[in-house]
Amino acid sequence: MNILILNGPNLNMLGLREPEIYGDKTLDDVKGMCLEKAQELGQSIDFRQSNHEGELVTWIQDARDAVDGVIINAAAYTHTSVAIHDALKLLDIPIIEVHISDPKTREEFRHISYIEPLAKKVVAGKGVEGYVLALEILAKL
Ligand code: DQA
Repeated sequence: MNILILNGPNLNMLGLREPEIYGDKTLDDVKGMCLEKAQELGQSIDFRQSNHEGELVTWIQDARDAVDGVIINAAAYTHTSVAIHDALKLLDIPIIEVHISDPKTREEFRHISYIEPLAKKVVAGKGVEGYVLALEILAKL
C-alpha cells in the first residue's frame, strides 16, 4: 500500500509553533513516527509539507493512479481551500483528514472543513499520534 501524507502551511514549524496546542515534536519527528508505523504495517509512505496551496493541489493531482490512500493535514487551508477540495474530489481512493488539535473546539473560523465531506475518516485532537492512527485506519480499509 502506497500512502501519500500531505501537510499544509506552518506545519514545518511544529515544535516551535504554539507548543501548548501542537506539542513539542517537530515535523521530522512525526515523519519518523509514520515511517516506523508504516514499516510495521507493510506500507510505503511519501511524507510531504508545503506552505503553498498550488503545490499541494499539484501533489494531490499527481496522486491520482499513483497511490492507494492519502492522509492530509491541510492546516489552515482546511478552512479556506476550495482548490484543495476540488483536487481531492479527483481521487477515488480513501482520504483521511488529520488534525493535531481539534479545530471544532477552537475559534469559530476553524469549524468549517472543506476536506471533511471527502474524508473517509477525520482524526482530530489526538496530537501527532493522529498520523499513526490514520495509517492504522488505512491499513484496515
Ligand atoms: C491544524 C488545525 C488548523 O486549524 C490550523 O490552522 C493548523 C493545524 C491541526 O493540525 O490541528 O495549522 O490543522
